[in-house]
Order: sequence, then structure tokens, then C-alpha cells
Amino acid sequence: MNRPRHFNLLARVLHWSMAAAIFAMLFVGAGMVVSLRYRDTLLDLHRPLGLAILLLAVVRLVNRLLHTPPPLPADLPRIQVFAAKASHWVLYALMLAMPLIGWGMLSAGGYPVELFDGVNLPAILPHSPVLYGFLRPLHGVLAYLLFFTILAHLGAALYHAWVRRDEVFGQMAKGD
Ligand code: HEM
Repeated sequence: MNRPRHFNLLARVLHWSMAAAIFAMLFVGAGMVVSLRYRDTLLDLHRPLGLAILLLAVVRLVNRLLHTPPPLPADLPRIQVFAAKASHWVLYALMLAMPLIGWGMLSAGGYPVELFDGVNLPAILPHSPVLYGFLRPLHGVLAYLLFFTILAHLGAALYHAWVRRDEVFGQMAKGD
């Protein structure tokens, strides 16, 4: 099979723009649970940005499934190949799960899911305090998992760029 040398343009644009959006979301989320003063403002930003991340994650997953990615270096130890592939699928799962859990927990809590002034999304789960009590802490725990997976991903990218000095970083940083 003929493998491309780089990720396609859509994959690269989505990768870097979503990296910035998700990183921002983690801090917006953490900020709004510790600040009473900025809580409402941050929450008004958190919901639409989270929904945008959900839509972009679907586009990105479809693009990833339709296009063969560039190969990892042939001499990469098998454990690192496994870690790379597993962490990429964990990132995809969390990009989809975090917004869905956020939306679902507000639905279960009986709160309006306001996107913009006067524009509300429908509830995706029935009103249930038990479900809310499960999903609310899950949203927080998975946010930590997302944060640590992103740190590991960043560490691996820099290891390829600065230590191994192989083609991996460039596959996402530039095109053909
Ligand atoms: C990639 C998407 C998302 C990320 C990374 C994210 C991240 C976070 C983080 C880090 C927190 C703080 C958790 C804690 O300390 O317990 C949080 C809280 C919260 N998130 Fe999200 N979130 C996302 C999507 C969403 C979406 C789409 C919604 C709603 C439509 C939402 C609604 C909420 C709410 C209501 C809270 C709790 C506010 C509170 O109880 O004080 N999140 N989020």
C-alpha cells in the first residue's frame, strides 16, 4: 500500500486548531469551578466551544478513517508503536466523550443547555439526579485523563522532534 508522507491538510488544520481549543477548554473548565466572579462568563464560553469541539471531532474522525495516515518509523520499538496508537485512540474517544458528557450531565440535571442567548440545545438524557451525580464527577475525572494524555502526547512529539530527530513531528507540521 502506498502511504502518504504527511497528514492531509484537513487533518493538520484540525489537529492544531483543536489542540488550542481543547487546551483552552481545560483551563476554562478549571477556572469556572474555582471562580465565582467569572463562573457565568466562562460557562457561557465553555458550552459553545465544547459543542464546536464535538462537531470538529466527528469531522476529524471521519477524515482519519477515510485517509491512511503516514507510517511511523520502521525502527520504532513495538512498545512505542503500541503507546502511540493507543494514546491516539484515547484522545479521539475523549474528544467525543467530554462534550457529550458535558451536554448529557446538564440534561440529566434538568439545566438548560444554552448555546447562545435564546438558543438552547435539546436534552439528550432524561432528567435524573442519580445520572447527574454520576456524570458530573466523571466529566472532571476524564478532564484529568485528557490533560495527562495530552501531556504524554506532547512529550512524545518533542522526543521525536528533538531526541530521535525523525520524520514524525514533520508529518503533522508540514505538507507534501
Ligand atoms: C472538549 C470538551 C470539554 C472539556 C475539555 C471540558 C472540560 C471541563 C473541565 C476541566 C471542567 C472542570 C471539572 C472539575 O473541576 O470538576 C468542566 C466542567 C463543566 N463542564 Fe466541561 N468540558 C468540555 C465540554 C463541555 C460541554 C460541551 C458542556 C455543556 C454543554 C460542558 C459543561 C460543563 C459544566 C456544566 C461544568 C461544571 C460547572 C460547575 O459545576 O461548576 N462541558 N469541563
